[in-house]
Amino acid sequence: MMNQWSEVDQYFTDLLVRPDPALAAALEASDAAGLPQINVADNQGKFLMLMAQAQGARNILEIGTLGGYSTIWLARALPPEGRLVTLEAVPTHAKVARENIDRAGVGDRVEVRLGRAAETLPQLVAEGRGPFDFIFIDADKPGYPEYFQWALQLSRRGTVIIADNVVRRGAVIDPASRDANVVGMRRFLELVAADRRVSATAVQTVGSKGYDGFAMALVVEEP
Ligand code: SAH
Ligand code: DHB
Ligand code: MG
Repeated sequence: MMNQWSEVDQYFTDLLVRPDPALAAALEASDAAGLPQINVADNQGKFLMLMAQAQGARNILEIGTLGGYSTIWLARALPPEGRLVTLEAVPTHAKVARENIDRAGVGDRVEVRLGRAAETLPQLVAEGRGPFDFIFIDADKPGYPEYFQWALQLSRRGTVIIADNVVRRGAVIDPASRDANVVGMRRFLELVAADRRVSATAVQTVGSKGYDGFAMALVVEEP
């Protein structure tokens, strides 16, 4: 199954996404630096870019940078005067990301902020950096409930919030799970479900990155 999913991803990527030297170089440099290969897939990266572009996003927040692969896709959705801030806790990840983002030619639009998101998110609020138009949550999974609350504080009516890895090979449906990732994801989804300020859904995905999914929450009421 996994092999077929990867072949179909390859087909879509060759046909629709097409090779891109800056993105390929970012993945190569990330590998060379020993970063884990847990970036979004190529076709998912372009999906995120198109979502942000369709929305007309000018101010984007990403939580969880890694080597900046999804960051580069999202930064490309921005107009020249647009801005993206991406939050990363691990110094080597942030350093590799900074280099990848600069090499991709979007460095002038992107701030890589080093620190744990539970600390950098309140910093952003204190600095009056919101509201963001588009927010991508993709850092440590147990942190998602907290990141969602901060994301709302940094939102306006119309903000799109997308969260990665909400399926975890189906593990998300186990209410008895003691896996902190699953517990965190379920708590996050329950918070989203209970919050009248957002309208939300989730979709499962298969492909080169296995079986997982995205959740999307649209802020429909002034948060
Ligand atoms: N968005 C990236 C992948 C992110 S992987 C892409 O698709 O290309 C998750 C990242 O979150 C890792 O780099 C990890 O170091 C970072 N992370 C983990 N815990 C964090 C925390 N508490 N605060 C900020 N970043 C964190
Ligand atoms: C993991 C994290 C991710 O953001 C992802 O897309 C896939 C895997 C992980 O921590 O294993
Ligand atoms: Mg992810």
